[in-house]
Amino acid sequence: TRILVLHGPNLNLLGMREPGHYGLATLAQINDRLQQMAQDAGAMLEDFQSNSETELINRVQQAKAEAVDFIIINPAAYTHTSVALRDALAAVAIPFIEVHLSNVFAREAFRHHSYFSDLAVGVISGLGAKGYELALEFALQHQA
Ligand code: DQA
Repeated sequence: TRILVLHGPNLNLLGMREPGHYGLATLAQINDRLQQMAQDAGAMLEDFQSNSETELINRVQQAKAEAVDFIIINPAAYTHTSVALRDALAAVAIPFIEVHLSNVFAREAFRHHSYFSDLAVGVISGLGAKGYELALEFALQHQA
């Protein structure tokens, strides 16, 4: 099983970025935990963060060639803006789960719409870093 975890813009700042919304865990801590879980399950996991829409799109396209089985993505602010990243996920047709650390529905109206949710297998929002672990648990069970 090959799993790709994608983190969108500003998530490199986790730990110091608005901790009331995003918690105190750093991205490295989140990724380490996911790597450990994947290793324990005998799966291959790659994580990638970028502040660039272009790089995220290219990484999704590359995933098709690599035969990635499942994508876990927090598109961050691109959730609410990026038709292009949505189209990339539709093009490769790799199942994905959309994760948000914060509960986007408890926040500003502009965060209530996602360009990804209708294509996603499921959406996890508001459970903090645990959301990534739950998404990975699902991906591991369903791609065994
Ligand atoms: C986020 C929510 C988005 O609205 C925001 O732009 C982010 C992070 C989250 O994980 O809660 O950057 O995706």
